Amino acid sequence: MFQLDSHPSGRHFLQIPGPTNVPDRVLRAIDQPTIDHRGPEFARLTFEILEGLKEVFQTAGPVIIYPASGTGAWEAALVNTLSAGDRVLMFETGHFATLWRALAEKLGLVVDFVPGDWRSGIDAALVEAKLAEDRAHMIKAVLAVHNETSTGVMSRIPPIRQAIDRVGHPALLMVDTISSLGSIDYRHEAWGVDVTVGGSQKGLMLPPGLSFNAVSDKAIAASKHARLPRAYWRWDEMLTMNRQGYFPSTPATNLLYGLHESIAMLREEGLPAVFSRHARHAEATRRAVRGWGLEVLCRDPDKYSNTLTAVMMPDGHDADAFRRAVLAQFDMSLGTGLGKLAGRVFRIGHLGFFNDLMLCGTLCGVEMGLALQDVPHGRNGVGEALAHLRETTTTTTTTEQRRAA
Ligand SMILES: Cc1ncc(COP(=O)(O)O)c(C=O)c1O
Repeated sequence: MFQLDSHPSGRHFLQIPGPTNVPDRVLRAIDQPTIDHRGPEFARLTFEILEGLKEVFQTAGPVIIYPASGTGAWEAALVNTLSAGDRVLMFETGHFATLWRALAEKLGLVVDFVPGDWRSGIDAALVEAKLAEDRAHMIKAVLAVHNETSTGVMSRIPPIRQAIDRVGHPALLMVDTISSLGSIDYRHEAWGVDVTVGGSQKGLMLPPGLSFNAVSDKAIAASKHARLPRAYWRWDEMLTMNRQGYFPSTPATNLLYGLHESIAMLREEGLPAVFSRHARHAEATRRAVRGWGLEVLCRDPDKYSNTLTAVMMPDGHDADAFRRAVLAQFDMSLGTGLGKLAGRVFRIGHLGFFNDLMLCGTLCGVEMGLALQDVPHGRNGVGEALAHLRETTTTTTTTEQRRAA
């Protein structure tokens, strides 16, 4: 077996904003014999998962599953709906918006990329202004990253939908929910999204390797006329085979066992409880950051992410040196600064399979790391977080009580 670095005793703290900690229940589900993906048991598995995913994406429409990382689902969203030379509107919210833009350009799309400061979300007024200028309807899609994993800034989707509708623009709306799905309230259908891109390795508590497109009728209609070359990513072949409980090529059988289990876990806890757990942990984390006298990267409290917090390092201190010290001393991985934030921020992931005491351990590790690295900081970060957890504790329903309900 591949030898991991030695973790002397106790569990490693994986507090990057994805991949996240995989629950033992999910690991055990994955650790079952691989079955015939053309057999009858498999069709039952597929049907149950496809129904469960609709609840997670909050849609009655189809959700397509790819054995691919999130980048594959980005590509699938574009090649199924657009043609070479089509214009798309995007916003520079951070590293992942920048990567999606680069992918779109490699496919031959023309991207109108509205510059941003990597500390703010998408301004719906700008969406409206850009689309109002486009009287000839040359823009075929608006692409938004719901939760920017590189910055901890969440863009609100309903105001973007309303902006598109106010100017009566026919552009498709595509949203990346890779670090929000299953953690922050997201409603594919009610919010009028045409393609939602998701991934397995964050709120769904699975290892990396699966990604998703939830699609609207309008997106499916667009796919009939889109001319970008596509073969593996074709929605039509997927949808046809899925209707019988199968996939056009060999699916990731064991990851699907895991997905079946993680959907069960989300159902047992209940999505509203999952969302409020994430909101509470995120608020406790921000209080800790303020208690340390450090700054949260996100400028706008209305756009704080509930799945991760990006923390700015004081001038003269390298965020990566800090992260290395925390890993070496406390066996905890924190998220690195990506792109132009390299060395300037570290990110605390507080999503997925996570509870109060895991948050406490995480914040203690950060506070002790700041002291270890002589980073000037206030001493009461953990105390502030604990006070918030104490004030907002509600009686937890046990799994048995939830199952019985
Ligand atoms: C918001 C967002 N979009 C896209 C991606 C790319 O996904 P992947 O690395 O799984 O291909 C990530 C990865 O972390 C992400 O956080």
